[in-house]
Amino acid sequence: MNLTGKKILILISGGIAAYKINSLVRDFVKANAEVQIILTPSAERFVSPLTLSTLSKKPVYSQFFSDNGQWNSHVDIALWADVLLVAPCTANTLAKMVNGLCDNLALATYLSAKCPVFIAPAMDLDMYQHPSTLQNLNKLEKYGHFIIPAEHGELASGLIGQGRMAEPETIFKTITCFLNSKNIEFDNKKFLITAGPTYEAIDPVRFIGNHSSGKMGFALAEEAANRGAKVTLISGPSSLQIEHPNIEVIRVTSAKEMYEKVFCYYDQADVAIASAAVADYAPKEIAKEKIKKNDEVLTLELVKNPDILKNMGQRKNNQILVGFALETQNEEENAQKKLVQKNLDMIVLNSLREPGAGFQKDTNRIKIISRTETIDFPLKSKSEVAIDILNCIAQHLNNNH
Ligand code: PMT
Repeated sequence: MNLTGKKILILISGGIAAYKINSLVRDFVKANAEVQIILTPSAERFVSPLTLSTLSKKPVYSQFFSDNGQWNSHVDIALWADVLLVAPCTANTLAKMVNGLCDNLALATYLSAKCPVFIAPAMDLDMYQHPSTLQNLNKLEKYGHFIIPAEHGELASGLIGQGRMAEPETIFKTITCFLNSKNIEFDNKKFLITAGPTYEAIDPVRFIGNHSSGKMGFALAEEAANRGAKVTLISGPSSLQIEHPNIEVIRVTSAKEMYEKVFCYYDQADVAIASAAVADYAPKEIAKEKIKKNDEVLTLELVKNPDILKNMGQRKNNQILVGFALETQNEEENAQKKLVQKNLDMIVLNSLREPGAGFQKDTNRIKIISRTETIDFPLKSKSEVAIDILNCIAQHLNNNH
């Protein structure tokens, strides 16, 4: 993430979540953004101005006048910012923002700001659900501000519910995406990505599956989302989690479920990438009870699953369609066949014979094969591989539209 030249103004109000802003500031500074922090008077009780000024490499303000008599102009600071973030935003600060009160430097700066405003509320669950809070959040949205919703979890009171400030990573991604979205290639493009394995049930306790972890598909989703795409990620069983404002994750188990979900989104997609390892066959019947081990030999009758990617190829409109080929022999020849038979724009070949490639690894070694060329890439991390694949897709989009 590169935020070189971007100016981020953070107003911190007095809530326990204020301590999390330290890591957020560090992430913004790491991404080369300039960060200016203003604390409300009560925020000073929760965080150390010294820590924050060390991390942001700038003085932290909380009063209209500094100790040396210098006036901290709320107007100058407000007009300096490319984006203003209020985090954590307490119920009190929220209500004051709605009503235009400015009894501290942070609020006066907010009222003077002309840049986009992001608000990350944080409070106890009942305060968060109170009609006045809901109304205040609604009003701020009507002012054109962006709310980064509070999350569900354990609260400072010991109660459990919605009210925790969004995690710093979520706030970072939301703002980074916003700042980058004006000049990125996939802005407003809809991506449909499949990931992970499928599990085909044999009985209530057993299934036919494979070793896919979902790492390749999740890396593709994250990279596309970082470049501004709106991503629907349809994943088979995977322990991976992903939180990104541009990614909707839909979890499925079997190939049939994946097929149904894919075709809920496929028609609207601009780009579809099938990185899932879909089981080609599933048991004809799923035993209702656990199969007992009575006989020496157990025969399972398997039937072919729908080929999701082939169906996508047949129903192709204007989508750019990218498949994967996982091969163990005659790799290029087999991948070429799949490219044609499934009506794809490109296919990403990975071979299980390559050390460091394929299932579960953090790395992969791929060839991208299109109708006109084959590009061979060295072994890279899966996030770098995702960059290579999306660069090829971006080029394809530019050539064709
Ligand atoms: O998840 P990881 O642990 O990170 O591993 C990544 C990966 C090895 C799973 C990934 O890089 C990969 O190769 N995915 C495709 C695996 C696969 O099923 O390949 P295939 O050659 O059998 O299938 C060809 C294509 O058809 C694939 O795009 C597949 O998603 C699709 N397919 C296959 C069968 C089927 N019934 N429906 C499909 O859509």
